[in-house]
Amino acid sequence: MLLNRRTLLHGLGAAALSKPLLSAALAYDGFIELRAREAEAQLLAEGEPKTKVWAYGDRVPGPILRARQGEPFKVRFHNQLSQPSTVHWHGIRIENAMDGVANLTQAPVPPGESFNYIFTPPDAGTYWYHPHSRTWEQLARGLYGMLIVEEENAPAFDLDLPLMLDDWRLTDDGAIDETTLGNMMDKSHAGRLGNWVTVNGTSYPKISVPAGGLVRFRLANASNARVLDLKPGRLNGQIIAIDGQPVKPMELGSDPVSIAPAQRIDFAVRIPETEGSSFPLELAMRDRGIEIAELKITEKADTSHYKVTLPPNPLPLDMDLTTALNVDLRMEGGAMGSLQQASYKGELLTIRELVRKGNAWAFNGVSGRPDKPLFTVKRGRTVIVNMMNETAWPHAMHFHGHHVKVIERNGKPVADAPWRDTELMQRNDQIQVAFPADNPGKWMLHCHMLEHQVAGMATWFEVI
Ligand code: C2O
Ligand code: CU
Repeated sequence: MLLNRRTLLHGLGAAALSKPLLSAALAYDGFIELRAREAEAQLLAEGEPKTKVWAYGDRVPGPILRARQGEPFKVRFHNQLSQPSTVHWHGIRIENAMDGVANLTQAPVPPGESFNYIFTPPDAGTYWYHPHSRTWEQLARGLYGMLIVEEENAPAFDLDLPLMLDDWRLTDDGAIDETTLGNMMDKSHAGRLGNWVTVNGTSYPKISVPAGGLVRFRLANASNARVLDLKPGRLNGQIIAIDGQPVKPMELGSDPVSIAPAQRIDFAVRIPETEGSSFPLELAMRDRGIEIAELKITEKADTSHYKVTLPPNPLPLDMDLTTALNVDLRMEGGAMGSLQQASYKGELLTIRELVRKGNAWAFNGVSGRPDKPLFTVKRGRTVIVNMMNETAWPHAMHFHGHHVKVIERNGKPVADAPWRDTELMQRNDQIQVAFPADNPGKWMLHCHMLEHQVAGMATWFEVI
């Protein structure tokens, strides 16, 4: 019951949101029931046609799930879709069997069946959930939601404001553009870039924020492939967490904050005192800005909190790099790339043959998730992955079950990088990330630009 009550309390503060963001129903046995099925969503402006989507709990985004740090969390997933699916708990350093990767950590859940997910999240913060089976299609159709793991001693904010951003490709009448789902052009270029941005599944919502209050923005990018650059504009505050993990508060400057697909970022924002006024939330896109939401300043909050530092999660302060396992990861392929051949399902294919099979990318000369892991490492050892982006495209590299830290970028050492589960790499970037391989199991490592993932940018590693 606690989950519901807490959600309700947060919900009260957020009551003026344009659309209720409710928590999922709790069953008699303590499981949250999460159903994936076809639904309709008002992605376009009110009064415009609705969009047929696939959704968790009949809405986009799905219900905000709130777990508590260090306490068991139970979700019963019901697949009422027409194709197999799973749920992946993105960014959670989870027990491997609960990671939700179809055909690696579990069999995909067939239509009409269900699966119990039970796990104890070690870290508090902002996470999200989505399918890990035909993700490029299922996510594009609307299957995603936010997973919030509450701190044991949560700092008080006047408002907790989850904002899930998404970039959709819609037809003129507001339908999901199905004809271009998974097409080769997207796969070999920047992925499925859309033409319609929503915030919490609505276009240009008006969101009430308390005058003078301190608001925790929880931003997540659920786009298939678009990197969203948020302009701080009139947001006065600090970055307090990245990919769920607390960071030393960093002032929001004037530069846009990049949120790559799957990444999250938390801000602590001090709302101006000017009751009745409003200001936009804006993305930088190419040479212009687009406004994606309006923040309306409502009556003053009756509390005032100045502590924005989040309590730390149990990640190590130090890693032993001297005894680390060093692994190279050469990323190749895509349009304007130099990939000549790669092995696919054990067969060496020319780039032409690969493309005929719908693939365009390779890691270390292998396209698609191989039978053998990229590396196997004994539990507890530090791993350094040297990722070389030898393609003409950016990539959002995601590690399952672990958070990683950049230690070197383009030949220069990096001190004090944040822990991330998804790292954005620009074309020709070479970065080294280090992480303690402390979570046993089979873990995926892939590009979270989902058309790249399905077209070859996927591998896995094993911690034994
Ligand atoms: Cu968010 Cu492997 O995924
Ligand atoms: Cu990519």
